[in-house]
Parts: sequence; structure tokens; C-alpha cells
Amino acid sequence: MLLGVNIDHVATLRNARGGIEPDPIIAAEICENNGATSITTHLREDRRHIKDNDVRTLIKTLKTNLNLEMAVTDEMQKIALEIRPNSVCLVPEKREEVTTEGGLDVAGQLNKITEFVKPLKDAGILVSLFIDPSEEQVIASSKTGAQFIEMHTGTYANAFGTEKETEAFEALKNSAKLAQSLGLKVNAGHGLNYENVHRMHEIEGLYELNIGHSIISKAVFEGLGIAVQKMSDLIK
Ligand code: PXP
Repeated sequence: MLLGVNIDHVATLRNARGGIEPDPIIAAEICENNGATSITTHLREDRRHIKDNDVRTLIKTLKTNLNLEMAVTDEMQKIALEIRPNSVCLVPEKREEVTTEGGLDVAGQLNKITEFVKPLKDAGILVSLFIDPSEEQVIASSKTGAQFIEMHTGTYANAFGTEKETEAFEALKNSAKLAQSLGLKVNAGHGLNYENVHRMHEIEGLYELNIGHSIISKAVFEGLGIAVQKMSDLIK
């Protein structure tokens, strides 16, 4: 199973001061040097974390693959066709949300998504649809021409360790099986962390996990001691 690391939170921290540190490009390099098989980043309509220039630099500097998460808008399609990431993941996007809250409603806008996917695929970009793990959305996704789905694991992550975990996990397992039987490759992500990720191994044939928040959170605490020691040494 491959690991795509989402570096958006590094950009959030950088933007808090409006400067250049910490640089998400360096973050991507560190991720690649430590086993990430792709770098995921979400260019949001409001550019709250990753900016256009970051994406333009990443496509030149990455040694692995750039997976660009984006909304189904003309603006984003134009950017993707110009930058040509290895893959795009189409996500729903609401301005007021803190993070991507649910999956894309592919079933409810099948024609629109199908038309949106075509030029991206024609340009050689792999297309993934970020959907909730439901039969309806999986079947609809298989009709769009997209090669991948990414199952939204948020419900599973929230249910982990509760009586609702089994139901949430079974939805992922069944959706993956159905998607694969329809010729789709299956990724998963959102809310996966160091406690709940192990069950992803029970889902046969999962291709890639996209993980951001838990990795960046862990990096803060694993690195904080060293950072304080270095400063303390300097001011002694
Ligand atoms: N996959 C998609 C499509 C996402 O939108 C996100 C969140 O940006 C992730 C994966 C990663 O989620 P998390 O930061 O909770 O690991």
C-alpha cells in the first residue's frame, strides 16, 4: 500500500505569519525522502493554505507524484491542464468548511462530473473521485471515466473504537470490493491516524492512503524537543 502525504498544514503554518517558513516544498522533500510515494495538496478556491506558486514549484521539484486535490470548477480544471499533475482528486468544496467534510456527490451530478473528467484524462492526468463509501457513489463513479476513487474514511475514523466502527469499516470494505469489480483503483483517506490506520490492511487491494493531519501533528511533537534544545544551546 502506498502513502501519499498531504502537506497543506505546513502551508497553513507558513501563512499564519505571511512569510516563507515553514516551506511546504521542503516538507514535501522530507516526506519523499522518508517513504512518501506521492505528495498531495489541495489548492482551495480561497487559497487558505497551498498557493498557486507552491503547486507550480512542486511539479518541478518532486521526485515522486503530485496529486492535486481540487474542486470541480472551470478555474481548477484550467490550472490542472496547465500544470499537469500526475493525478487529480476531485473533492467537494465549501468556503466555510474547516476541512473536506464529505464525499463528492457523483451520483447527483453524473453528467457534469463525466464531462469534467474527460479533458483531464485526455491530457494524461489520472483522475480520482473523493466519495463516501456507498454503493450508489461507487457505481456512479465507475461511469465517469475516472480511473480511481478515494474513499472518505472520516466516518470510520470518527467511529473508531465505538460501537459504530464495524458498520463504518464494512462500508469501506464493501465499497472497495465493488469499485475494484467495476475496474476502479481504490485509494482512501481523511482522519486516518496512528491508531486507526492498521485496519486499512484488511481492505484487499487498497492502492494508496492519503494522510495529512496526523502526520504533521506527530511531526510537531517529535520535533519540538530538538527545536527547543537547539534554541536553548544558541542562547546559552
Ligand atoms: N484525502 C482528501 C481528499 C482530503 O481532502 C484530505 C484532507 O485534506 C485528506 C485525504 C487527508 O486528510 P487528513 O488530513 O485528515 O489526514
